[in-house]
Amino acid sequence: MNRVVAIIIISLAPIIGCGWQMAGIDMTSGERLFRSNCRSCHTLPNPKSQTDSDWVALVKRYGGRLDLVTEVQAEIIAYLQSVN
Ligand code: HEC
Repeated sequence: MNRVVAIIIISLAPIIGCGWQMAGIDMTSGERLFRSNCRSCHTLPNPKSQTDSDWVALVKRYGGRLDLVTEVQAEIIAYLQSVN
């Protein structure tokens, strides 16, 4: 019985995974953190609007206001630098 359940889950996994992708949920965690944290005070900034070094300073400044820990800031910075 457990085996049958396992087989069903394994065979459904790619379909569910694909659904997530279509729903746009296949984001990196840096992107997710950026989207969830950086639009509480203004609209979400355009990643292309700043240079790599500007993003370091901006995420430190605004991430600091949110009390985001360094690791979270680093993930957001890495995401922004990868798409700007
Ligand atoms: C606590 C509120 C607040 C949060 C949260 C916040 N911002 Fe801002 N942001 C501001 C304000 C206010 C401005 C307008 C400029 C100013 O007066 O400092 C601004 C402006 C900006 C600008 C325009 C450039 C500038 O400095 O004028 C960028 C880019 C930006 N924010 C990025 C971010 C990012 C990235 C995050 C997430 C880490 C974030 N902000 C989160 C308040 C916030």
